[in-house]
Amino acid sequence: MRIVLLGAPGSGKGTQATLLRDRLQLVHVSTGDLLRAEKAAGTPLGIEAQAVMARGELVSDSLVLNMLEVRLAKPDIQAGVIFDGYPRNVTQARSLDGLLAKLKMPVQHAILLDVPESALLARLAERARKEGRVDDTPATIGHRLEVYRDATEPVVDYYARAGLLTRVAGQGTVEDIYKQIAQAIADRKQ
Ligand code: AP5
Ligand code: MG
Repeated sequence: MRIVLLGAPGSGKGTQATLLRDRLQLVHVSTGDLLRAEKAAGTPLGIEAQAVMARGELVSDSLVLNMLEVRLAKPDIQAGVIFDGYPRNVTQARSLDGLLAKLKMPVQHAILLDVPESALLARLAERARKEGRVDDTPATIGHRLEVYRDATEPVVDYYARAGLLTRVAGQGTVEDIYKQIAQAIADRKQ
């Protein structure tokens, strides 16, 4: 199963993808986590991405695509993949289709976590207090939400037009949201 998890910053993509990884044995591929790992390792890619991420802008399509290609070359992806944070614009959605076509593993489902902006802001402010992620400052959060609206929301239409989209209300307990996602996946498999 190849699932794309869509949603604004703070919508719970990482939280839900972790549960899907643990409970459905899917591989969790988060481009944000991969970029943060590159940064922590001090690689040229990580250093190049660092400032862009801190501003809340998108890292270049080619850089992220190269990183993703390396990740998808590992054999563990045969178990199924949950994509978190990729694709983030329509160009990336097309690139992912191309990459997965070569692997004969097309995207089968896209799930949007729908969360109102007021809740997103509250969650990210709370995470800033707890974890201090560099892009969780008020100004950067605002910009990330703008980038989401401008660049990433068209990706939702991209998958809707392909007949692959399920919308899930992303508010409530983490467990309740997980149940809705798991149900949507089970329905899609039939
Ligand atoms: P990325 O790491 O992908 O960040 P993001 O999309 O901004 O999303 P977040 O990780 O902030 O939120 P999330 O949806 O994962 O929610 P979470 O589960 O953490 O990207 C970071 C940057 O990397 C980008 O800005 C860009 O620069 C770069 N980048 C990444 N991918 C890229 C790409 N493809 N192309 C170009 N650049 C790219 O939850 C948020 C908080 O809410 C947590 O504290 C959590 O505990 C809490 N929470 C979760 N669920 C609930 C709930 N149900 N109720 C209450 N609280 C909840
Ligand atoms: Mg995340």
